[in-house]
Amino acid sequence: MRIGGKSYRTIWVDEGGPHVSIIDQTKLPHRFEIVRLTTAGEVAHAIRTMQVRGAPLIGITAAYGVALAMIADPSDAGLETAVALLARQRPTAVNLRWALDEMRRNLASVAQPYRAKAAFALAGRLADDDVVTCKKIGEHGIQIIRAIAARKQPGQRVNVLTHCNAGWLACVDWGTATSPIYHAHDAGIPVHVWVDETRPRNQGAALTAFELGSHGVPHTLIADNAGGHLMQHGEVDLVIVGTDRVTATGDVANKIGTYLKALAAKDTGVPFYVALPHSTIDWSLSDGMEIPIEERSGDEVLRLSGRTAAGDVQLFDIAPEGCRAANPAFDVTPARLVTGLITERGICPASRDGLVGLYPEREAAA
Ligand code: MRU
Repeated sequence: MRIGGKSYRTIWVDEGGPHVSIIDQTKLPHRFEIVRLTTAGEVAHAIRTMQVRGAPLIGITAAYGVALAMIADPSDAGLETAVALLARQRPTAVNLRWALDEMRRNLASVAQPYRAKAAFALAGRLADDDVVTCKKIGEHGIQIIRAIAARKQPGQRVNVLTHCNAGWLACVDWGTATSPIYHAHDAGIPVHVWVDETRPRNQGAALTAFELGSHGVPHTLIADNAGGHLMQHGEVDLVIVGTDRVTATGDVANKIGTYLKALAAKDTGVPFYVALPHSTIDWSLSDGMEIPIEERSGDEVLRLSGRTAAGDVQLFDIAPEGCRAANPAFDVTPARLVTGLITERGICPASRDGLVGLYPEREAAA
């Protein structure tokens, strides 16, 4: 994707040294800063503090974390220590475990002197694969948007509502939920996006609005609670969200508040789609209530970050001193509320049969 006329991925390896660079997402949209990561410890910090976030990107960043760790200590113990460190940084996005499993499985048979090189090559392949995967999600998802556009008057826009940031900033490029939107926009289909602000960390306001704006996609920021009202008044043609973990039965974990959007969509007859890559499916779970939900600091609820009129970025208290806050970061939308899953292999019902139909090689696991 392009920012200020320059193409970026969200993560890349610097030439001339074993460094990995990321865009510091805690600084967006006010500042565009690149951070250089040189150790697995720095990668763990970047994941924990959400300098990188979004399920696919967390996984790819962790893969590079293993690669950096292999420079320092390519032994079996070094590999296990790095995997354990990175795995415990965030609990809900299964892509983290998936990427670490891929790294461990492939590196185990590589002789230690060659492990670092092999690890960087493998992390690079996972990153490239994520780009291809997200592009394919867009190529399938655009069909849904195209079909809605075909039922409208010429020039009438298709209104998509999305929650959180499941855009290219959450992946390596393209995004999951945004990929069909970018494909539709680039194909000349008039598309407009309702962007949920997504409290408490405001990934919609800070990140989705930033990237849609950078790409020229028309969008409107709304308070999280506005979606149901807009759906009741025919202002939303479809919802597309991303996900951090989908069970083998099609239950969907995503940023807190997604479930309420799905309920409103069901009540108003608005199609509710979830876009995901294969790395987000947890074939070991068949009940969404088993998905571990990250509990984050109440400070994120009690404070807001924003830019002052003078241009400084500051944190502001929004509650009485001493107020307690709870902060579950994700919720689970049951499969029955999901119209369909948009994957790199096509669109399927949110069900075991639907998923196995697209991934027949996983039938035994499911
Ligand atoms: O806490 P975050 O910002 O990592 O949460 C991100 C989301 O919930 C995204 O919607 C999800 O990871 C899908 S990203 C393609």
